[in-house]
Amino acid sequence: MTDRPSNFSGAVSMALLKVLALIAVVLNILDTTVALENGLGLTPPMGFNTWNKFACDIHEDLVKDMAHAMIDSGLHKLGYQYINLDDCWQITRNETGYIVEDPNAFPSGMASLIAHVHDLGLKFGLYSDAGLRTCAIRPGSLGYETKDAVLYAEWEVDFLKYDNCWNLGKDLKTRYQTMSDALNATGRPIFFSLCEWGEQDPATWARPIGNMWRTFQDIRNDWNWILSCLDYNDKWHQYAGPGGWNDPDILEVGNGVLSIAESRSHFTLWALVKAPLLLGNDLRNMTSDIFEIISNKEVIALNQDPLGIQGNKRLSMNGTEVWAGDLSNNEYAIVLFNRSDKEADIVAKFDDIGIAANSPFFVRDIWMHKDLGIAHSGMVSAKVASHDVAAFRLKPVFPPTLRGKYHNIA
Ligand code: GLA
Repeated sequence: MTDRPSNFSGAVSMALLKVLALIAVVLNILDTTVALENGLGLTPPMGFNTWNKFACDIHEDLVKDMAHAMIDSGLHKLGYQYINLDDCWQITRNETGYIVEDPNAFPSGMASLIAHVHDLGLKFGLYSDAGLRTCAIRPGSLGYETKDAVLYAEWEVDFLKYDNCWNLGKDLKTRYQTMSDALNATGRPIFFSLCEWGEQDPATWARPIGNMWRTFQDIRNDWNWILSCLDYNDKWHQYAGPGGWNDPDILEVGNGVLSIAESRSHFTLWALVKAPLLLGNDLRNMTSDIFEIISNKEVIALNQDPLGIQGNKRLSMNGTEVWAGDLSNNEYAIVLFNRSDKEADIVAKFDDIGIAANSPFFVRDIWMHKDLGIAHSGMVSAKVASHDVAAFRLKPVFPPTLRGKYHNIA
C-alpha cells in the first residue's frame, strides 16, 4: 500500500467519561447470559468452508487439498484451524437410521477423511440441517439428532454448522436446542454454529445453545450485498462475546469479484466485528494480494483479542464511516471506512466515537504496519480510497493507574 497522511489532536471530556462508565456498567449487566458450556469459541473461529467457492462440487480430494494448502501456506500458524465441509456430503440414511456419506464424493469414508485432516493438526467441521432435508435437498437431521450427534462424535467431528431448510414449521428454538443437547450428550466438545439466517433474532437467545449464529441471509459475492450482511450484523453487537458470536457469513475475499480495496475492507470489518473468519476461497490458488489480506496478523489480532468485544459502527457521514471496538489492555481499534465512490478524508475524534481520551495513545496503522507516534489531539484521520479502509490500533501511553495524574500532558 502507498503511504497515507494522518494527523491527531487531543482532548479530554470528563462528562463523556462518566457516560462511558455508565454504558460499561449497563453492558456488564446485559452480559450475564450464560454461554454454551462446551468451552469452545472463546475467540471467533477461524478456518475454511467449502460453500462459497465450491457449493455441491465437493470431493474428499478437494477437502484434503484445502487442508494441505492451509498448512503449506502457513495460514494455520495464524490461527486458521477449521476445515469445514458444507452441504452435499451426505446421500441417504442406512437401515438403522445413521447418515451415510456420498460414496462417489467420499469413497474413503468420512472417518478416514477426518483423520487425515486431524493428522495435519487441523480441526474438521460438518454441516447438517434442523429439518427433513438440507437446503441442497440431502437428508437432514430432524428426528435423527441423537444418531447424528453420536456418529459425528465417533468420527471425531469438531464443528457442526446447522441449517434451517425443510423445517416443517416446527418450533425453531426447540429444533436447535435438541441438536445442541445431543452434541453435548456425546461428551465431545463440538463447536455448534446455528444457521437460521437471523430469522428469529438468534443473538437474543442462542448464546446458551450454540457458539455462533448467522445474523442474515446467505452472503453473495457482491459488494453491496456483503455490506448488507455487515449492517444487519451490526445491530446485534452487544450480544457477541467469548463463547458466542454473531455470524455475518463466510468470507468472499479471493473469490474474484471484489477489488483489492473491497477485499481489504471486507476482511478488516469482519475482523473488527468479531465475525468468524471462515475463508471461502480456493486456498490452492491465491494471488499475493489476497494472501496479504487474509494473513495480516495485526488485523487477525483484532478479531482474536481475548476481551471478545464486537466493534461497531460509531459514525456515518456522506458515505464515510468510523467503526471502532475495545480491545484488551485498554487498547482500541478504529477502522475508517469509505463506502463512497470517491476518495475521502475521514476523521475520527475520540470524543465523538466513545473512546475515552483521558490518556494519550500510541497509534499504529495496521495495514501500513507502521507506528504513527502519539495521538496528542484526540483523533485519527486518513485519506481513504473509495471502498477502502484505514485501520488503527490505539495503545494508551500511560497505564490506567497513572492516567489521572498525567492525562493533561498530551
Ligand atoms: C443455506 C445456508 C448456506 C449454505 C447452503 C447450503 O443457504 O445458509 O450457508 O450452507 O444452505 O445448501
